[in-house]
Amino acid sequence: MNKLLKQLVEIHGPSGFEYQVRTLIRAEIEPFADDVSIDAMGNLIAVKRGSGDGLKIMIAAHMDEIGVMVSHISKEGFLRFTNIGGVFPLNILGSRVQFADGTIGVIYCEMKGFPKNALPLDKHFIDVGASSKEDCPIQVGDAGTFKREFVAQGNRLTAKSMDDRTGCYIAIETLKALQDTPHDVYFVFSVQEEVGTRGAQAAANGILPDVGIAVDVTATGDLPESRRLAVDLGQGPAIKVKDKGMIAHAGLVRAMRDCAEEANIPYQLEVLEMGSTDARSMQIAGPGSAAGCLSIPCRYVHSQSETVDADDVKNAVKLLTALLANPMTL
Ligand code: CO
Ligand code: ZN
Repeated sequence: MNKLLKQLVEIHGPSGFEYQVRTLIRAEIEPFADDVSIDAMGNLIAVKRGSGDGLKIMIAAHMDEIGVMVSHISKEGFLRFTNIGGVFPLNILGSRVQFADGTIGVIYCEMKGFPKNALPLDKHFIDVGASSKEDCPIQVGDAGTFKREFVAQGNRLTAKSMDDRTGCYIAIETLKALQDTPHDVYFVFSVQEEVGTRGAQAAANGILPDVGIAVDVTATGDLPESRRLAVDLGQGPAIKVKDKGMIAHAGLVRAMRDCAEEANIPYQLEVLEMGSTDARSMQIAGPGSAAGCLSIPCRYVHSQSETVDADDVKNAVKLLTALLANPMTL
């Protein structure tokens, strides 16, 4: 498990530049799918055809991660940048970013003395070791992601981009485990989720699924003084009931809960007051679909040390596989 997950989280895939992730996942899933394609936006779509008269189900896990895009290079060779997705100034001072060609940069901010408060992103710059615009290996428009290695300590797995390579991992393993299904299942590894669930929207408009299930991380409520949220790390995958962008289909929530209970898989119910996922896009694409989300509890989301629990990941694979292997009544 950790070998594939480590590979998935350590590579570079900011929104709009997911090709390294796509190449890795494609090689991993090709032997298990009936059909694999890439659409115009870059979504990777693997189809597992059903044996009966089941539903058309789309599973979405996003390949992209948050990052930075270079907007200006000074004559001294310092890069200014804009955010790709939710990048918080508190999380980035002294961080390393990696660009697609392997160049590493250090993020720092304008200051005299030690910084007391986090400054806005436009007061930050990236140092890639250049001394002028001319010898800078990076250009305006190049995108970088944070550089952090994967760490496994017991059941706790920490890395950048657990959001949402954990979801990609779960979708990959579910496709591998799914022997027979009555449904036509479209596993979509989506692009550009972090900038507004754009890839899944295009894919869902093409596929027009009856049911859409996103697999993505969610926050936890188990940290000191954290917000009231009934999701704890290690207590099972969470079945989303509501977030800021979507109310999950009640029949699908029921079907997911029944499936977990029958298979003796622990689960939690998630009501999140912020955020959303690809489920929102699938819900309102085309004539609409019955949409929901299987969430992986994750601490420190959108930091470089996003942390999940290995048992939650394994149980999510079990739950999704059992759900897809059986007929579904909504
Ligand atoms: Co995210
Ligand atoms: Zn995500």
